[in-house]
Amino acid sequence: MEKNIVLGITGGIAVYKMVEVASRLTKENFEVYVIMTEAATKFVSPLTLQAITHNPVETDLFTPPQTYDVKHISLADRADLVLIAPATANFIGKMARGIADDLLSTIILATGAPVMVAPAMNKNMYNNPIVQDNLNYLKEKGFTIINPASGYLACGEQGQGRLPEPPVLVEHIEKQLTSDDFEGKKILITAGPTREPLDPVRFISNYSSGKMGYALARAASFRGANVNLISGPTDLPPPLGVNIVRVETGLEMEKEVNKVASDCDIIIMVAAVADFRPEARKNKIKKTGQESLQITLNSNPDILAKRGANKSEDQLLVGFAAESQQLEDNALKKMERKKLDMIIANKINVSGTGFNSDHNQVTIYTPNMKEQIPKMNKRALADVLLDKIYNLD
Ligand code: PMT
Repeated sequence: MEKNIVLGITGGIAVYKMVEVASRLTKENFEVYVIMTEAATKFVSPLTLQAITHNPVETDLFTPPQTYDVKHISLADRADLVLIAPATANFIGKMARGIADDLLSTIILATGAPVMVAPAMNKNMYNNPIVQDNLNYLKEKGFTIINPASGYLACGEQGQGRLPEPPVLVEHIEKQLTSDDFEGKKILITAGPTREPLDPVRFISNYSSGKMGYALARAASFRGANVNLISGPTDLPPPLGVNIVRVETGLEMEKEVNKVASDCDIIIMVAAVADFRPEARKNKIKKTGQESLQITLNSNPDILAKRGANKSEDQLLVGFAAESQQLEDNALKKMERKKLDMIIANKINVSGTGFNSDHNQVTIYTPNMKEQIPKMNKRALADVLLDKIYNLD
């Protein structure tokens, strides 16, 4: 069912970021209703947000409603979530004191929906004890505060006070609206490729982008899990709320996995760990006119198989299998050899799926079932896989 988001925009320089927030939410099929304070309309025209959300932008408590609704009551009732961003010091003060002197502040008092507040202002204003007291008071009353980011501020100073970037705000909204069925679970996820150095400037690696592992980490964190993500080199930003450790080689990945694995309820190994690593060379390999070059490769540890050998009774161990042939046969053998509770097999020679793609098509195996999942984007697939893992528990 589509969710109704009310974006309450108050007057600060960061109002321009809300155009992108509204656009991203609309594209993700949220129904977005924007309410702007009078000050906010001085920074961006309501028309811009109206065009993006396809809904009228409300600014005034007293203009007649377009339907026979009491405007502040109908918007307050319809909201599944209200985000106040950017939230000025003035508006935060009004919310904390229960003042209702315009449409937005009235809606805050009238709504039963969760309210998130993203302050954005000069760093001294943000650190002012009065503003901090007001924020703490709102937190006590059940509001969720999204901490401002640090960096260059519009006043020319550096510090904490920037409105987080639009993708981050959208992630906060999505997280808040997701059910917490993994609350209390500790999950370890590995993602991405490993890089095995040949010499100081070259390495052996593979085409894993990290997208599948990051999608699982994001979904698990949104569903309330405490997620440790151990990631090989990728260009992806860390998902919201996830503890990320970045590594380069298979040996480094093994070391980091071993630090946290025994403490985790669920381990999902998505990383494409190189099975072999070249013998380390201190200096750059030189071209000396020879026709060929011999490189000795040594076996990397099988991180997942070692976890299987050390797994406790109540820990769930999930692996992936990347196969170019005999998918079922190879996946089942890996599940048995590595003592897994589930293996997710993907064919890697199907175009538009698997390595470095936004989509994947997998077959799930457990010791007593097999299920083929149709091709879908990795974010949607992550939730399907977590549903299956949840039912294993
Ligand atoms: O990162 P993306 O671009 O989104 O692509 C996703 C993916 C294709 C990498 C992913 O869906 C996937 O298939 N991951 C597993 C890749 C792999 O290495 O498969 P494998 O069949 O070689 O290994 C089987 C399992 O053992 C895997 O869970 C792997 O993490 C683990 N393994 C493998 C080798 C090794 N030395 N140690 C391990 O722990």
